[in-house]
Amino acid sequence: MQEYNVSFGEKEIALAVERFGSPLWLYDLSVIEKHIWDLRFFGIVRYAQKAAPNINLLSRMNELGVDVDAVSAGEIIRALRAGFTPNQIRFTADIFDKDALALIKEFSIPVNIGSPDMLFQLHEAGIKIPLAIRINPGFGHGHSNKVNTGGEFSKHGIWHGELENVAKKATELGFTIECLHMHIGSGSDYIHLSQVVSAMERTVGNIAALVPELKIISIGGGLPISYKRDEIWHIDLEKYYNIWDSARKRLSNNLGHYLQLEAEPGRYLVANSCILAAEIRAVKKVGKNLFYLIDAGFTDLVRPAFYGAYHHISVIHKNGKATNEEVEAIVAGPLCESCDVFTQEEGGIVVSRKLPLAQVGDLLIIHDAGAYGSAMSSNYNSRLLAAEILWEKGKFTQIRRRQTFEQMLSNEIGDE
Ligand code: LLP
Repeated sequence: MQEYNVSFGEKEIALAVERFGSPLWLYDLSVIEKHIWDLRFFGIVRYAQKAAPNINLLSRMNELGVDVDAVSAGEIIRALRAGFTPNQIRFTADIFDKDALALIKEFSIPVNIGSPDMLFQLHEAGIKIPLAIRINPGFGHGHSNKVNTGGEFSKHGIWHGELENVAKKATELGFTIECLHMHIGSGSDYIHLSQVVSAMERTVGNIAALVPELKIISIGGGLPISYKRDEIWHIDLEKYYNIWDSARKRLSNNLGHYLQLEAEPGRYLVANSCILAAEIRAVKKVGKNLFYLIDAGFTDLVRPAFYGAYHHISVIHKNGKATNEEVEAIVAGPLCESCDVFTQEEGGIVVSRKLPLAQVGDLLIIHDAGAYGSAMSSNYNSRLLAAEILWEKGKFTQIRRRQTFEQMLSNEIGDE
């Protein structure tokens, strides 16, 4: 069984933890590079930076030819700081807050609207930029209900039945619609992702006369990766691309001009590129269960607690000696919540996992943690955000320092 998806190994991890502390995020740039290469067929690859927004990762991706999605003022600032030009950025959201609207106006950043009100707010603010429209096709799918972004109970996108009105209104107000976009959810499967193709064809067909300047069809994100080592699979990207490309050609013929395809992956580019290393700080028996308690919690990686998400786990022994002995263990963190457990299933069911026999001081490695890992960390329980390290050309560089207690407290002032 191939334990690691990253190219550095146990020795490098142990050295990095010694140098930069624990817990620690370690990314491998070569994995990100490879996954960008996998998507080379698509005309535009727009990285959904919410998955891992460190500006050092963003600038490397910029150099690798990727554009970027931003969903908040903070993400616009990150993209600009990482060297993206304003027209390489697209702001996708269902609302504008005031900070975001101000930055969009200042830098003329293209926008993907997910609510009709956004159209009016752009107009009122005197912003005239080419638009994308995010369509809710009436169905959605994702690895968990929490990440399904289509259908009648989803707040995302413009309902397909409203699209004609919104497109008419946009034209009346002098906007051009350059992109139509659908994102039905994250970590979906091949069948559901492919259903989007016919929904897109139908929708574009219905409003073709209203979008004469359409240039781009965006298929959103959602590309899944396999997290489990005993069921490794890879989405057949070439087949997936070909389905979309045939639709693109048919739509191009209908509209009478060339259309480009755009993909907007988050997870696919970064999930496999990163591990979270933590130290085992206690090993204890609770009734018939054995717990490994580590110094990372859901304040670092929330996916297991939030979605019951599975991450492969391995151990690095502090004396460097591997053992063949395995035990059933539950892996949990330091937080004062019973859901602070890395081995759990959807619905908060705690389960044990067969893991190497380990002791205090050994490192516990949580794999494939690059997407929505560090990005969703918090200061809950007043725990500090961990450092991030990038493995590039055979060496580690620190790309985010560990937060300090002073930084955590710095905005808590008592001024009137
Ligand atoms: N485009 C839009 C409009 C999105 O909302 C998202 C993700 C993406 C692209 C990228 O989706 P991806 O390729 O990563 O599946 N925190 C959850 C995932 C939330 C996804 C939110 N939107 C998780 O840890 O699984």
